[in-house]
Amino acid sequence: MPKTLIAVVLLAVSALAQAGSKSIDLPPDGVQLKPSILPGYAKAQAICAACHSAEYMQYQPPTAARPYWEAMVKRMKTVFKAPVDDADIPLIVDYLAKTYGNEQSK
Ligand code: HEC
Repeated sequence: MPKTLIAVVLLAVSALAQAGSKSIDLPPDGVQLKPSILPGYAKAQAICAACHSAEYMQYQPPTAARPYWEAMVKRMKTVFKAPVDDADIPLIVDYLAKTYGNEQSK
């Protein structure tokens, strides 16, 4: 595929993705992680907020289940060298699933 065609396809895909999502007003500052009494909250604050704001978590599907979050945390560790102890992964995954995923109490 020529480069321009690829660009057009990418634009169309991102336009479609935006059309399907709700519009959200972003707060001016970096989004903070949602506070929680779960032990994974402090871990996530210390580890996950180092590189990016909590917007990234906020934009994950609320239907995302535990394995999704686990894969995410492991990807952050292996791909981006996030300093996550293997022992802390279940705590962080627990916090993420219950705060941003399909285990949120409504
Ligand atoms: C060393 C830096 C670093 C740390 C620490 C880090 N991330 Fe990331 N994260 C990134 C980068 C870079 C991206 C964007 C790249 C991409 O989209 O593939 C990203 C993207 C994301 C996304 C967006 C979805 C995606 O697949 O791109 C989520 C969700 C996320 N991170 C969650 C986490 C969580 C949870 C933690 C804590 C366990 C964490 N991150 C720690 C660097 C980091």
